[in-house]
Amino acid sequence: MALSKSPYRGTRDLFPQDKRKQQYIFDVMRTTAESFCFEPYDGPLLEEVDLYRAKSGTELINEQIYAFIDRGEREVAIRPEMTPTLARMVAQIHREVAKPLRWYAIPNLMRYEKPQRGRLREHWQLNCDIFGAPENLGEVEILQVAVALLKNFGANQNHFEILLNDRRVVDAIFKMAMQLTDEQCYKLYKVVDRSKKVTAEALEKMCDEILNPQQKQIFLQYIQLKNFGELTNLLSKLNLNDHAKSFLQFVELCQQSELKDFITYDPTIVRGLDYYTGVVFEIFDKHPDNRRALCGGGAYANLLQIFNEEPLAGIGFGLGDVTLLDFLQSHGLIDNYAHQNSNLLITYQDEAQWKIANQLAQDLRANELQIEFHLGEAKLKKAFQIAEKKQHQFIALIGESEAANGEVQIKNQKTRDAKNFKLNDIKNIIDFLKAN
Ligand code: HAM
Repeated sequence: MALSKSPYRGTRDLFPQDKRKQQYIFDVMRTTAESFCFEPYDGPLLEEVDLYRAKSGTELINEQIYAFIDRGEREVAIRPEMTPTLARMVAQIHREVAKPLRWYAIPNLMRYEKPQRGRLREHWQLNCDIFGAPENLGEVEILQVAVALLKNFGANQNHFEILLNDRRVVDAIFKMAMQLTDEQCYKLYKVVDRSKKVTAEALEKMCDEILNPQQKQIFLQYIQLKNFGELTNLLSKLNLNDHAKSFLQFVELCQQSELKDFITYDPTIVRGLDYYTGVVFEIFDKHPDNRRALCGGGAYANLLQIFNEEPLAGIGFGLGDVTLLDFLQSHGLIDNYAHQNSNLLITYQDEAQWKIANQLAQDLRANELQIEFHLGEAKLKKAFQIAEKKQHQFIALIGESEAANGEVQIKNQKTRDAKNFKLNDIKNIIDFLKAN
């Protein structure tokens, strides 16, 4: 039986064109994170399942994790997210390092999902996190990193928005105004997390299963809030202003920076992962055909406690390559990367010129140029055919007469300019390749 040529469901084969696009995306991610002095880190592909059981939430554990028992009877998972690994690493060193600590990574992650637009089983995710920053300042900076990243791809406030909420505020409404138990509260969080994906009737039904009529009335007021002003009005009415002080101070800081053009209050943002304890956010694509989150994150104060360490404030986000690519494509912000990068194709006509042609390739590569040396003899017609097929703009031709004069002819296929150079005149060759 012949095997399938397709990759495993929900994963991608990255052919050179796809990989070039991905490398461009990763380069922008790295340079943006490093422009804020974030340091790179990485961790293992496999972790013990208990690491995720501790605080990642039941959906991840029950439905999404790839887990198996290893030969030593340990329950092991392919990482579905990076934050628990990061917390485990930070727990090892946080006492010794200067704070705030700013780290980034671009791991590939696996989740057992139903593959669809924007959701695959394997994706790469930029993670940026800050530990040990003063209240709200880390939150502001982490959003600034996300905005700078999208701006570096050419996006602006017409393309995306940041939807904000705060779990402390939601907890105050659910626990103090609505008097929910921890268990009811947990269930209602799951309802809120799903609220945008279900119909109004389905939402009502889910509420009726958890809430009495008075609780439901408050909940419906909450879930329909449209902006920060409506939120403060509801909090005043419920006498909960004190519980929103930190969040409103954070919003005020955002208003004083470029973030003001991007932020909106959204009561449906609570995030599916259990470890968040403060500000939570998602970055949404504004394109009508692509209304989904391309980035999600929030503050987590207690993650180090699972390692018996003292609490250390953490804030971060994950931004996935699948959703980012959909975003960039739907707004026309990315090239198709159809062609390989190259500065020059070097060809020779006969075996006798192999040595000087090969030496020229080496000399140019030593100057950080990308050189394709054609493997085999190529008469003029063939040499031009290769250059065209492989989309080289510049082609170097070395035949008997060039060799006799110690020269190379270089042709610019776009402008049709052609020029002869001495083989050792590397500087002028480079100028010719770069000027056009
Ligand atoms: P998350 O919301 O699960 O958060 O994922 C963050 C982003 O990763 C999503 O907004 C989406 O772009 C992308 N993503 C997630 N799952 C998939 C998938 N199955 N297919 C394609 N893209 C996906 C976290 O993972 C948190 N650990 C982020 C974080 C870092 N929070 C604090 N620090």
